[in-house]
Parts: sequence; C-alpha cells; structure tokens
Amino acid sequence: MAIAIAVFAVLPRTAPGAAVGHALGIAGFALMIATEVAYSLRKRARTGAWGPMQTWLRVHIFTGIVGPALVLLHTNWRFSGLAGATAIAVMVVVVSGFVGRYLYTALPRTTAGEEMSQAAIAALLGELDTQLSQPGLAPRVSRQLTAARDRLKLRVVRIPRHRRLLALWHTVHVPLGVGMFVLGFAHVAVALYYGAGLR
Ligand code: HEM
Ligand code: HEM
Repeated sequence: MAIAIAVFAVLPRTAPGAAVGHALGIAGFALMIATEVAYSLRKRARTGAWGPMQTWLRVHIFTGIVGPALVLLHTNWRFSGLAGATAIAVMVVVVSGFVGRYLYTALPRTTAGEEMSQAAIAALLGELDTQLSQPGLAPRVSRQLTAARDRLKLRVVRIPRHRRLLALWHTVHVPLGVGMFVLGFAHVAVALYYGAGLR
C-alpha cells in the first residue's frame, strides 16, 4: 500500500503509451491476473500444504489493491471509451472486493480461515463463560470477556444472513471480475494493434 501511495505521489501524471505509463499498465494488469488466479487456485487446492487461507486472502487483497492502483496511474485519468470502461470496471471490482471482505470477516473463522463449526463456536463460548465465572476477575478483564462473548453471540445470530449475502456476493463479484478481464484484454489488443503499428 505504501509503495502504491509513494508511486502516486512521485508520478502524478504519466502518458499511458510512454515507457513508464506502459510499464505501470502491464505491471498492474499482471498483478490483477495474479490476484485472481493465485487465490482461485489456492481455494481449489484442498490440502493444507499451501499455507493458511488467511495469508492467501491477505496477499489477494494486497495485490488486488496495488495492481489496480498501478493501472489507475497508467490511465492518465481518462475514463471514456473502451480503455476508460475497463478502468471503471477495475474500480467496481475493487469496491466489490471491500464489500466481500466485510461479509467474509463477519462469519466466525478459525485461524486457518475456515468457517468455524457449530461445535467449535459452542466450545469457544463455553471457554469464555468459564473464564468469566472465575473468582477474583479484574473488572476490566471481566468487561472485555463479556464484550467478546456478546460480540460472538451477535455474530452467531447473523451467520445465516451473512452466509446468504456472501454467496450472493460471490455470484456478482466473479462475473464482474470476468467482465473486467474481457474488457482489459480487448483494450490491450486494441492498444497493441494501433500502438505497435500492426495495422
Ligand atoms: C486493466 C488494465 C488496464 C486499464 C484499465 C487500462 C486503461 C487505459 C486507459 C484509460 C488509457 C487511456 C486511453 C486514452 O488516452 O484515451 C490507456 C492507454 C493505453 N494502454 Fe491501457 N489499460 C490497462 C492495461 C494495459 C496493458 C496491460 C497494456 C499493454 C499491453 C496497455 C496499453 C496501453 C497503451 C499502449 C495505451 C495508449 C494508447 C494511446 O495512447 O492511444 N494497457 N489504458
Ligand atoms: C483485481 C482485483 C480483484 C480481482 C480480479 C478479484 C477476484 C476475485 C475472485 C475471482 C474471487 C473468487 C475466488 C473463488 O471463489 O474462487 C475473489 C474472492 C474474494 N476477493 Fe477478490 N478480487 C480483486 C480484488 C479484491 C480486493 C481489493 C478485495 C478486498 C478488499 C477482495 C476481497 C475478496 C474476498 C473477501 C474474496 C472472498 C474470499 C472467499 O470467499 O474465500 N478482492 N476475488
């Protein structure tokens, strides 16, 4: 994120067809493809040997922000025509990502990123209750434990709704991403056709 902000500060304007602007477009687009492909592949790899989902999602979000930020620098703030439509689609996908991130974290999860089972949630609530019932608990600790227990209970009540919304979000976010890449590849094809003198 810091790198993206620094790049924004140093390079307020670059021509998309010039060397730097080109490099930004290509690097950003490559990062966006990596964002999509790496996470989708990891999600379908059902073994734990690839590291926790949590880490992959963190990387997905990082590259999903930095890639579009580089692409935005490449656009020269023009938002018309095919290339402009692509740029707007990129931003829609990123905003949609933030919505998904909210819904994703609203569901209680293990540190590995899996949704917690009913039994695991019950065990956690039981553990909080046990800690709360210990004699001589400092008032501050007691308040914190009570708040944690109440928060968890509220999240449990909302599980069905958040699960439904996350499923709905998936059905919107994925086609949005596909549409964005279709536009992106069309723009690259057009830019190369005209830009590289292939007429
Ligand atoms: C999703 C990713 C991308 C978006 C949103 C995007 C968007 C844009 C925008 C808005 C412009 C300015 C158009 C104008 O001046 O009217 C532009 C120009 C350009 N883009 Fe991209 N771009 C992306 C990726 C790429 C990639 C990967 C390449 C290279 C293969 C590329 C090559 C170019 C070229 C050569 C121009 C200059 C065209 C000209 O000056 O006529 N772009 N792009
Ligand atoms: C270039 C930008 C992005 C693209 C192309 C993209 C694409 C995708 C795709 C295709 C999936 C579905 C993976 C699957 O179910 O197999 C996904 C999931 C997800 N993305 Fe993105 N994304 C982008 C940026 C972001 C950003 C910026 C965020 C957060 C701020 C984000 C958050 C999420 C979340 C929370 C999930 C769901 C995780 C899950 O249910 O396992 N994405 N993304």
